Amino acid sequence: MSGGGEHVEPDPKIAQAKPYVVDEPVGKRAWCSCGESKSQPYCDGSHKLAGLFRPIKVELPEAKRVSWCGCKHTQTPPYCDGTHKTLG
Ligand code: FES
Repeated sequence: MSGGGEHVEPDPKIAQAKPYVVDEPVGKRAWCSCGESKSQPYCDGSHKLAGLFRPIKVELPEAKRVSWCGCKHTQTPPYCDGTHKTLG
């Protein structure tokens, strides 16, 4: 697929092709969107080398179990939406 002059989003790296399911305490998190972080599913600053990615920051007002997207291709970042099942 090629679009004339279209902005092309860089493809994130698949950190793992399934979610990171974590029992999270209350607090702030920065989800890695580029897939390059060494401390998945959280940002460790690696996106600065990977290119045009920014972490997604969320605040968890209560402790809960979170399914962080590990494939980085979810349509509902930072959460898993099942897209990982469609990746080759
Ligand atoms: S791990 Fe990315 S959509 Fe499920």
